[in-house]
Amino acid sequence: MNNDNTLSKPYLLGADDLTPQDVKLIFDKAQFFMDNFKRGEKFSDLKGITVALAFFEPSTRTKLSFELAAKRLSADSISFASSSSSLTKGESLIDTLRTIEAMNVQMYVVRHVNSGVPLFLQTNTNGVILNAGDGKHEHPTQALLDAFTLYKHFGKLQGLKVCIAGDILHSRVARSNITLLRTMGADVALCSPGTLLPRHLNIWDLPILENIDAAVEWADVLLVLRLQRERMESGLLPSIREFSKFYGVSFEQFSRKPELVLMHPGPVNYGVELDYRVSSYPNCLIQTQVTHGVFIRMALLSLLSKFV
Ligand code: CP
Repeated sequence: MNNDNTLSKPYLLGADDLTPQDVKLIFDKAQFFMDNFKRGEKFSDLKGITVALAFFEPSTRTKLSFELAAKRLSADSISFASSSSSLTKGESLIDTLRTIEAMNVQMYVVRHVNSGVPLFLQTNTNGVILNAGDGKHEHPTQALLDAFTLYKHFGKLQGLKVCIAGDILHSRVARSNITLLRTMGADVALCSPGTLLPRHLNIWDLPILENIDAAVEWADVLLVLRLQRERMESGLLPSIREFSKFYGVSFEQFSRKPELVLMHPGPVNYGVELDYRVSSYPNCLIQTQVTHGVFIRMALLSLLSKFV
């Protein structure tokens, strides 16, 4: 349960931690920051709080936007990159957490290649953990900024038809988006080659659209995912060229439906899942998603700082 101004859980590990009331609270707070942010001025929400940005896997958008969000809220922040840390000398994850805790840190933004690491850390600290992407599991802040972008574009999420297309098997963005969009009453469908769909799809019971043409026809929004070659086992695709031919999104397909909205969490493999010319398509919201990411992460840091 949450009262009017407090999130229902003192952390954010997955999209299922969020109720519709939580999402409304986060959107309202993000909109407040959007409306009131002035260059050169800071909000004081996180004054006296230290945020650790613990990224055990590469990131551009999530790391930089959390860093900016923390700074704009007057937090102290420290940045941790696993490749230049004592993990390379054999220090364990739990000792790394204890070491950072001993520096009087209260909030942790965690990205890790393994699913479940944010949960493991949350059960071993009194600090507040925000999941910034764990393995193939969840990326809840991405789902929130995607939903916020759609809410601002359409003025609603209820009943919106969103097709998630591409490499669903390896995508934490897909998992978090499916959960959050359904929490908010959107209709979700998937479009992907069978080898890139999770085996236990029945847990979602979602319609599967057979190709991108069918997806364009059905959807209000096409959320295109990156082909995650770094997580892929061999044999899942005959070739990248074939994936691109049958499941890549072309400019011609978009041109047929001018009102269709396109989103992608980034980074984009142009020429694989998306034709580069689509980036100049009027309803391509990829850059808007990035801009909204800063305000959504400010909102989350501010709301979760109440639990510190
Ligand atoms: N969308 C996303 O998580 O991008 P980064 O990997 O650059 O953070």
